[in-house]
Amino acid sequence: MGLAEEYFDDGSSFLAIDPLSINPESLVDFSLFERHVRKNEQDRFRCLLVDSQAIPWERLLKLLSSWEVVYIHKKQNFNYTQYVKQNLEFILNHENIDVKKKTGTLINIATEVIQDSFAANFVSPHECDRAIENIEKLVSQAMDFISGIDSLKGIADLIGHDYQTHTHSIKVGWLTATFINANPDLFEVETGAPLGEDQLRDLMVQATVAGFLHDIGKIKIPRNVINKKGKLNNLEYALIQSHTAYSTSILFESKLPRSSMQTILYHHENEDGSGYPCGLSGEQIPLIAKICHIADVFDAITSKRSYKAARSPFAALKIMAGDNPHLATLRKFEAEVRENTKIPVAAIVRDDYEAKLRRLREREILEEEAKKRVVARTRLRDQGMSHCFDTDLLRRFILTINRSENFDLSGLL
Ligand SMILES: [Fe+2]
Repeated sequence: MGLAEEYFDDGSSFLAIDPLSINPESLVDFSLFERHVRKNEQDRFRCLLVDSQAIPWERLLKLLSSWEVVYIHKKQNFNYTQYVKQNLEFILNHENIDVKKKTGTLINIATEVIQDSFAANFVSPHECDRAIENIEKLVSQAMDFISGIDSLKGIADLIGHDYQTHTHSIKVGWLTATFINANPDLFEVETGAPLGEDQLRDLMVQATVAGFLHDIGKIKIPRNVINKKGKLNNLEYALIQSHTAYSTSILFESKLPRSSMQTILYHHENEDGSGYPCGLSGEQIPLIAKICHIADVFDAITSKRSYKAARSPFAALKIMAGDNPHLATLRKFEAEVRENTKIPVAAIVRDDYEAKLRRLREREILEEEAKKRVVARTRLRDQGMSHCFDTDLLRRFILTINRSENFDLSGLL
């Protein structure tokens, strides 16, 4: 794509990028610009490098380290995004690139890949496998970065942001990878022998892919329920709960291994059997599903929603580790959702005006009741959730993220 050597622009046609993100060993097919800020005039963007084909490697390396920031023209954004996808491993493992920038790059690329997967037409196993292959490739490139404790700084910077399904899925996969890498002994117990390096890496990749896809079934839930600004009534709550079964159904014909499918299906099962979809408890719940559950709830509580503020990691983990004094009532409410998912939508076909009004009023009262129940259920749940998690795993989760100086959890254990 032919670009001029010079532009006068307010900056809106350009994107700032970190020169360190350019891998000198990988040729670029986009131009790099520098910006001269000018008072009361449009800024001047001058082309520094048309492409890297004609420049010796050493010279390029020198140039890249001498520039603090460079710009690309938005017309070449596609080329740049493709380039970053191909060179993600180089960028994420570069010791001089700030974790914040790495996190931004990872979230951008991963969001695009997950969005593509969520939008993919899963009617054929081929489509399904192509989407999974893209996620596996991305996760493999990111694994060294996301499984290290230092990368938790990136997660810490994302805490408190608005909840978005894609970012949430990335964080859940990321936290799962970091946790497994910090606690490999858990899997030695499972298999009866220490895991080899490759085995551990495979396990982390599969668990992270499951984390990235764990909520894919939400594409089958009506949008007005998924995006509802406010608390859900019983029917909507039950619909949301069906996403685990939908996820498994969508991915059923895929080549995902059994452990990933189990993680996706069982990531809402509670330790005491009060979760869904199967009401499994304790040992019945697969280990990675339990870890994914902890990461999932931790991220949900620390994210901002339209109906609730974000909690700090300390407050979230305090709720998750706390015993609930109202467990009996909470269980009653949860059971009620399963038993009474139908909002009594009266079939108003008669011309009896009085009866119609009465039925409408009855429906309103019942809907109001349902809403009150949801408010009460959420309030009660926040009093303590220890019954939902494996105590040892939750303790290990707290210890793992506490190893990063960006989380201050002292006094929690
Ligand atoms: Fe979920």
